[in-house]
Amino acid sequence: MPLVSSTEMFKKAYEGKYAIGAFNVNNMEIIQGIVDAAKEEQSPLILQVSAGARKYARHIYLVKLVEAAVSDTGLPICLHLDHGEDFEICKACVDGGFNSVMIDGSKHPFEENIALTKKVVEYAHSKGVVVEAELGRLAGVEDDISVSARDAQFTDPDQAVEFVERTGCDSLAIAIGTSHGAYKFKGEPYLDFERLQRISELMPGYPIVLHGASTVIPEFVEKCNEYGGDVAGARGVPEEMLRKAGTMGVCKINIDTDLRLAMTASIREHLQNHPADFDPRTYLGAGRAAIKGMVQHKIKHVLNSSNRI
Ligand code: G3H
Ligand code: 13P
Ligand code: ZN
Repeated sequence: MPLVSSTEMFKKAYEGKYAIGAFNVNNMEIIQGIVDAAKEEQSPLILQVSAGARKYARHIYLVKLVEAAVSDTGLPICLHLDHGEDFEICKACVDGGFNSVMIDGSKHPFEENIALTKKVVEYAHSKGVVVEAELGRLAGVEDDISVSARDAQFTDPDQAVEFVERTGCDSLAIAIGTSHGAYKFKGEPYLDFERLQRISELMPGYPIVLHGASTVIPEFVEKCNEYGGDVAGARGVPEEMLRKAGTMGVCKINIDTDLRLAMTASIREHLQNHPADFDPRTYLGAGRAAIKGMVQHKIKHVLNSSNRI
């Protein structure tokens, strides 16, 4: 069974006003936890691999594990490179079995981002692979950020239109207040929905991507801390904000931190409760089960992507 293109997934998601979960994968247990949840919910999926994941697990292992997941579950799955920083890594993934890549030129000036993205789009499209790009800077948001600082950091709607037109990228990651990791907001969580609305209105039908979209689920943060961890003051994007974004043109919601927290919390708990246990299958199994439960909750209650196959 082949991988499924995110183009098909995004079209349906856009029309149905829901989002596809894009989950970062680094090993077999993470992949199995995610796909087992999606199978029960009959949800399409994007499994994404970062440069760090390729370094840790090695490219070929992750590709083969994802292929195994497709054969095992029969689910529509897209295999995506997350945050490709240059042409070379995108090419390696296009040539090496991925059907979607991200070129993240967001740290470069506008014209350089366009030139780099265009180069990746030309190569990827010639091989039937789609491209996500990024415009704007994802950084933690201070409570008292000024309007001018926000404008400098967040995605400019008119530039987004120009960027998509000139690069031909298939989806665009935008900055509206989310950020990576477990510490997203210093004060109250805030997303610039007016900006999202404006971008969606200017590009009707076009799939928008939200990075840094973990909720930092309090249950797992508390469990990490209860069982010997030190994850203080962590704060993510509230679920209701993600649900709202999913109805406004956001077709892909990226989740990694919540996977890490669910897995780590459950492994910490398991090892503390079973001090004599040293079989990796038992604690990795506990991590896999926690990921499955967490992803199933997201699919049902946040992404709204259940029964979309
Ligand atoms: O956006 C970054 C993802 O969470 C991947 O993180 O580069 O540590 O694999 P990583
Ligand atoms: P989180 O750190 O919020 O999970 O974001 C993950 C992400 O954007 C991967 O590209
Ligand atoms: Zn990201």
